[in-house]
Amino acid sequence: MTSAATLRAPEPMGARRPTPRRYLMCRPDHFDVYYAINPWMDTTAPVDRALALAQWENLRATFERHGHTVDVIDGVPALPDMVFAANGGLVIGDRALSARFANPERAAEGPAYHDWLSAQRFARVSAARETNEGEGDFAIAHDKILAGTGFRSSRAAHEEVQEFFELPVISLELIDPRFYHLDTALMVLDDTIAYYPAAFSGESARLLAGMYPDAIIATEEDANVLGLNGVCDGYHVFLSEKAVALSEQLRARGYEPVGIELSELLKAGGSVKCCTLEQHSVRTAVRPSTD
Ligand code: ARG
Repeated sequence: MTSAATLRAPEPMGARRPTPRRYLMCRPDHFDVYYAINPWMDTTAPVDRALALAQWENLRATFERHGHTVDVIDGVPALPDMVFAANGGLVIGDRALSARFANPERAAEGPAYHDWLSAQRFARVSAARETNEGEGDFAIAHDKILAGTGFRSSRAAHEEVQEFFELPVISLELIDPRFYHLDTALMVLDDTIAYYPAAFSGESARLLAGMYPDAIIATEEDANVLGLNGVCDGYHVFLSEKAVALSEQLRARGYEPVGIELSELLKAGGSVKCCTLEQHSVRTAVRPSTD
């Protein structure tokens, strides 16, 4: 008997397709670096806010030009890191969990993002009980969530997320302070991931190698420009234009890298993904089985 699967025409090689996404971003109207909570932040180095705004506007326009929807939350004075919207929470389908920040400098961002999320269409919006820096440490990889710990989000937060979203959470330990959030060391692509193994404990790196034998392994050079802090829509990968080798690796796998310059925000330890909270539809999160 012939199964439906054998009758279906094979997908042409390299047939990756972008799907329209919905993002949340925060204009860097109040961006600055006057405290240091990660090794990238040097409070003596001047920040050009006008340039930060122009670079951010370019990222937003690039997303929109590629067919994505960008919601914008108002920044709050005295919250200079609020531009890093990825940290504000986690959204999958009709559920949203707002963040609880590890550092007091960012604590007030949690309620600000909570208020925004509460005003949207979601069926359930909760504030995290445990220390949880949103998509900074939680990467939605279709039917599961990869979660970082070691610097910011706690293991207890991983459990809370697993219960709240009813999706399996895989805990990964970060060990290098330059890569303090999972999204600085790992990026979810369409059918695999890209990551920098040295940012993880030996055990976590082995776990990733076992789960993703065909993953893209980033060079130290690309990790050091936060090249892994990118956003994939299924085909395009928006990432630092400085991540040259990674862009080539992506192209070789059938993705289209879109280089973005965010030099001012890098001074606070953030790049493309940090600025972008994806509001995952269930379709982009839990991909239906293809057989
Ligand atoms: N200065 C911010 C912090 O240290 C940068 C956050 C970057 N966001 C991210 N998703 N990695 O918290």
